[in-house]
Amino acid sequence: MAADKAPFYITTAISYVNGSPHLGHGYEQILTDVMARFKRLNGHDVMFLTGTDEHGQKVAKTAEKNGMEPRDFCDKVAKEFEDLAGLLNISNDDFIRTTEERHYKASQAIWNAIKENNPDDIYLGKYEGWYSVRDEAYFAESELTEGEDTDGNKYKLAPTGAPVEWVEEESYFFRLSAYTDKLLDFYNAHPEFIEPESRRNEIISFVKTGLQDLSISRTNFSWGVPVPGDDKHVMYVWLDALTNYITGVGYPDTESESYKKFWPADYHVIGKDIIRFHCVYWPAFLMAANLELPKKVFAHGFINVQGQKMSKSVGNVISPNDLIKTYGLDQTRYLLMREVPHGQDGNFSHDHAITRINSDLANGLGNLVQRTLSMIFKNCDGSIPEPNEFKDDDHKLLNRAHELVLPLVLEEVDKMRFNRALEAIWRLVNDANAYVDAQAPWALKKEDPERMKTVLYVLAETIRVLGILTQAVTPESSAKILDQLKIDPKARDFSFISKKHILQAGTQIDKPEGIFPRLEAEEKAA
Ligand code: MSP
Repeated sequence: MAADKAPFYITTAISYVNGSPHLGHGYEQILTDVMARFKRLNGHDVMFLTGTDEHGQKVAKTAEKNGMEPRDFCDKVAKEFEDLAGLLNISNDDFIRTTEERHYKASQAIWNAIKENNPDDIYLGKYEGWYSVRDEAYFAESELTEGEDTDGNKYKLAPTGAPVEWVEEESYFFRLSAYTDKLLDFYNAHPEFIEPESRRNEIISFVKTGLQDLSISRTNFSWGVPVPGDDKHVMYVWLDALTNYITGVGYPDTESESYKKFWPADYHVIGKDIIRFHCVYWPAFLMAANLELPKKVFAHGFINVQGQKMSKSVGNVISPNDLIKTYGLDQTRYLLMREVPHGQDGNFSHDHAITRINSDLANGLGNLVQRTLSMIFKNCDGSIPEPNEFKDDDHKLLNRAHELVLPLVLEEVDKMRFNRALEAIWRLVNDANAYVDAQAPWALKKEDPERMKTVLYVLAETIRVLGILTQAVTPESSAKILDQLKIDPKARDFSFISKKHILQAGTQIDKPEGIFPRLEAEEKAA
């Protein structure tokens, strides 16, 4: 359908290429993809950007450890992230790599724009302080904790648990201290800018303590975007990385069609560990460059495994690949969206995964589709039957499908509460299954074949609506459902959830095939 609503621009964080993708990256990709798909289904023209963050000391060091030139190393690992997007059926419109020419141009342009618009905001000085390479972040002495190793050597740790090193070097600074009040005013005027609320409070308290100027260039390594006019310096990796969000829509060409259409972004989807960069530094850089600020930063929680943080040393790192092999792609997407509550950490456990997939997908939606379509195939000459008069129970189910569910779903989707959107959809699945049991069409076959046709028609129509509603989360399986019902691919967006587009009786359907196989407990052993 033609997009008739406001354009919608959504991004994920761009992933560091210092290691292979894990389930945390996969979760963020799926979360963002589900939002992008919901918006497209609801008639928005969507731009969805994801990509890789390839500069900085962390990546340079990892490349060196692997005996590779940074660029070759980045090409190799960036490919893994691009493949991940394919593997997870992510519908991104573009994949940005910060090592691309267009991004060098945009990063240098934002630097120049800050200098032109606010010449005092960038100045040359000397940085003396602590730096965590793992976080690519500066920390004040007061934020650090001290530890001691088994040999009695003292060391300091960032609040993230990462080791810090002392850095002394010539550096350009960004006058962040001048933005304390401007940022607080902005948060005040735009309470929706940071979600969830708890993260907003965290940022406001941090900014209220007063901001320090920020070092925005490095000189003791060279893997980065050169500072315009002084290529002894490379830009601080976060200034370059954050800029990807505007590179992706054509910056520095602010007159380009895509920039005018999509900037400012509607949603930056990120993890809770990087809110300071997105909610403090990024808006301050944009203010200084005289560019518009994004509308929302949504910080999701972390995915833990069997109650523990994923980590190489614990040995519980799960790759998205493992899950897809064990459960299937759409099952994995469903599971992550259904199990992780809005903005909170989610726990992944195999036992729970099997129970959830079997109850909601195999026994819930899958069984509903399978038994309905099989009965139609066997008892109605393989075509959608002509209904007779609708009774109260029929009206009730159809009304729920046509009128009640979509508004509830859209309300939850706008807040990125996909677990609740899915609960709303599954109430319809459960109602439809309860309706099958109550109407018992298998018994009507002999007693009242005309009534059986009406019941099967009502069920097929409910399944059509469910097929449309579930597409954002389980795109391949929903397509199978809609294909089996012979729904025109052009008639699958949310504008077709209405009585006006109700199923055509007489349509021939194919022999039904199972959509969601039941998982056996042994699969968890894998
Ligand atoms: N390169 C920066 C982001 C720059 S955005 C301008 C970065 N990269 S990352 O590879 O470390 O993380 C990418 C995204 O994955 C971040 O949003 C991060 O919060 C998220 N996650 C990393 N581990 C995660 C989990 N275990 N669970 C959920 N998300 C996690 O940060």
